[in-house]
Amino acid sequence: MTESTLIILKPDCVQRRLLGRIIQRFEDKGLTLAGMKLMQISTELAERHYAPHKGKPFYPGLIEYITSGPVVVMVLSGTGAIDICRKLMGKTFGYEAEPGTIRGDFGASKTYNLVHGSDAPETAETEIALYFGPGELLDYETAAHCWTFKPGES
Ligand code: RTP
Ligand code: MG
Repeated sequence: MTESTLIILKPDCVQRRLLGRIIQRFEDKGLTLAGMKLMQISTELAERHYAPHKGKPFYPGLIEYITSGPVVVMVLSGTGAIDICRKLMGKTFGYEAEPGTIRGDFGASKTYNLVHGSDAPETAETEIALYFGPGELLDYETAAHCWTFKPGES
């Protein structure tokens, strides 16, 4: 099913100058970029985004981290985009993530894990609406689309 997911290239990704290499991973996979912007997440927005984690021991550090510097937020679309992105990202903690994944190749920390990706269709919808207005997302197909996703394939 064609779906969209919210990806955040987190502050460590920007500060370590890894944006190009990590965006390349998503582009290589064939997902369509529907929206993209550089921004700094406010505390209020971070608290809304990470509301499901409120009360957990790592929550204060998570809010501090995600608001600590500029991030790039993107919406990526394609068949199975949510799961595809989670697989590309790898397990949450860099030291557990498989080599070949973004976190497995670039991360070693529990907190500084470079990238966020929505974990389910409902979460994706809520998260996309937190970062992008309706007019900010484009619905289009790249020339390579029909050679990346076979029409009618489930
Ligand atoms: P994300 O939401 O950022 O895509 O990451 P995720 O689904 O893989 O992991 P999640 O369980 O949703 O945790 C959100 C973020 O909180 C930080 N975290 N720290 N110190 C800890 O035990 C701990 N656990 C989670 C990570 O930055 C994680 O991405
Ligand atoms: Mg999560």
